[in-house]
Amino acid sequence: MASPLLLILIIFMIMIIIFLIHGLYQRLRYKLPPGPRPWPIIGNLDKLNPDHKRLCLTEWSKTYGAIVSVWFGSTLHVVVSNSELAKQVLKDNDHQLANRYRNKGIAVAYKNGQDLIWADYGPHYVKVRKVCTLELFSPKSIEALRPIREEEVRAMIESIYEDLNSPDHNYCGGLVLRKYLGSVAFNYITRLVLGKRFVNREGVMDDQGLEFKAIVANEFKLGAPLGLVEHIWWLSWISWLYDNDEASTEHLARKDRLTRAIMEEHKAKSMNINGGGGVKQHFVNALLGLQEKYDLSEDTIMGLLWNMITAGMDTVAITAEWAMAELVKNPKVQQKAQQEMDRVIGLDRAITESDILNLPYLQCIAKEATRLHPPTPLMLPHRASAHIKIGGYDIPQGTVVHVDVWAIARDPSIWADPLEFKPERFLLNDVDIKGYDCRMLSFGAGRRICPAAQLAINLVTSMVAHMLHHFQWTQPEAVQLEEIDMSESPGLVCYMHTPLQAVPTTRLPRH
Ligand code: HEM
Repeated sequence: MASPLLLILIIFMIMIIIFLIHGLYQRLRYKLPPGPRPWPIIGNLDKLNPDHKRLCLTEWSKTYGAIVSVWFGSTLHVVVSNSELAKQVLKDNDHQLANRYRNKGIAVAYKNGQDLIWADYGPHYVKVRKVCTLELFSPKSIEALRPIREEEVRAMIESIYEDLNSPDHNYCGGLVLRKYLGSVAFNYITRLVLGKRFVNREGVMDDQGLEFKAIVANEFKLGAPLGLVEHIWWLSWISWLYDNDEASTEHLARKDRLTRAIMEEHKAKSMNINGGGGVKQHFVNALLGLQEKYDLSEDTIMGLLWNMITAGMDTVAITAEWAMAELVKNPKVQQKAQQEMDRVIGLDRAITESDILNLPYLQCIAKEATRLHPPTPLMLPHRASAHIKIGGYDIPQGTVVHVDVWAIARDPSIWADPLEFKPERFLLNDVDIKGYDCRMLSFGAGRRICPAAQLAINLVTSMVAHMLHHFQWTQPEAVQLEEIDMSESPGLVCYMHTPLQAVPTTRLPRH
């Protein structure tokens, strides 16, 4: 009788043979895009540095062209990096490429796509997308949220004045702008989504806020890939191990507890105010009010709330920090924006969001910052629901497709001086940034375009506008302009590698 070890060995060999035949069959049957030669079983995972995945993909497109095949174990990923191919992905084949790729952690956290971001395209997706477009991000709702934006941006300016007057302030070293921009994004998104400001006017965070912050930090870890097992379908049977992962279970329980507690507080409040009326613009209130109308499950409401938190907080802070870095590095651009503000608003009152309509150069600065520094350089991955062709190559059903919007925004064949920060380019040529023009895809395009694009642009523009109207910003004394570190963090979300430090000189009296 064969020993158990021999039996395991035979099963393992059979699996490898099946895998090799399957791989060979895929490659011979289809004309796949070119790419680095994959190894059996692991594909190209040996060459994909997990911390520099994005840079590897961008590097390969220099060798293999604007469409590249990369094997993450047994899953085929295709990366496109020119605007014509992006159009084929996001417009011509939008319908067949509107599914999402969910790794194990994401699938567990979002109950296999009961939310918006991680849902596959289908009746559930269409329904929740409609809720977002018609109810949460309609022009009317965005306008109703304006007072919160203005309050938070004014609070940021106030805290800069306070820090400048503080005896501990080291004037020469400048301020770390991420602290101020990050807290606008944090406070705005928590107020918008949860109807809560966890931080009081003295800058102290309450216990619920501390719990929330810890959960947000954990949330990103949960989405991290689990390694080889995740990418090799015939090894997925051992992934049940991860279901029992204590840390993940505890994280989800904490997140559930906090979200439910906040939802209960809102339910109780809206019962007390005018028998169910009250402030409707916060997403918790809005979604609870729409629960019946759209037949939204509790998992969906909680999923949507967390989608907005994870998608909205960092992206806004990152874009505003890059914009400020470019303005410090390009003093003439900064000066031109300030001259425009002085002409239109003057120095007797502070800027408000309604002034922005009359500040075309300022608007171009926000656009140029999103072009040169998209916070999600590879967007979010799409997955093929059917076999299609892109650029004449086969894209089999199940392929994960990425659009390298970072590379497209730096393509010298469509942008003059692509690496230079030149807001003027948009004065001469008004390129749409909300998905109509495939040269600028920082918010995506097609069915899965960012539903909050307008709200995000308004917030980033308002943050930059207040910073420039109240202060002139220069690099710290000991730093030359060319020494400002403009390198990017390696992950899939693109922070400045070194947080920007800049010195403010007051232009406007404190109001
Ligand atoms: C500068 C800021 C932002 C940028 C550059 C940005 C960019 C993007 C991109 C590239 C996508 C993926 C599109 C695709 O898969 O084709 C996306 C999706 C999404 N974004 Fe944003 N985003 C920003 C801010 C926000 C904010 C503030 C929120 C919410 C408050 C938000 C909510 C979402 C949601 C819910 C999705 C998923 C849409 C779907 O799958 O249908 N984003 N965003």
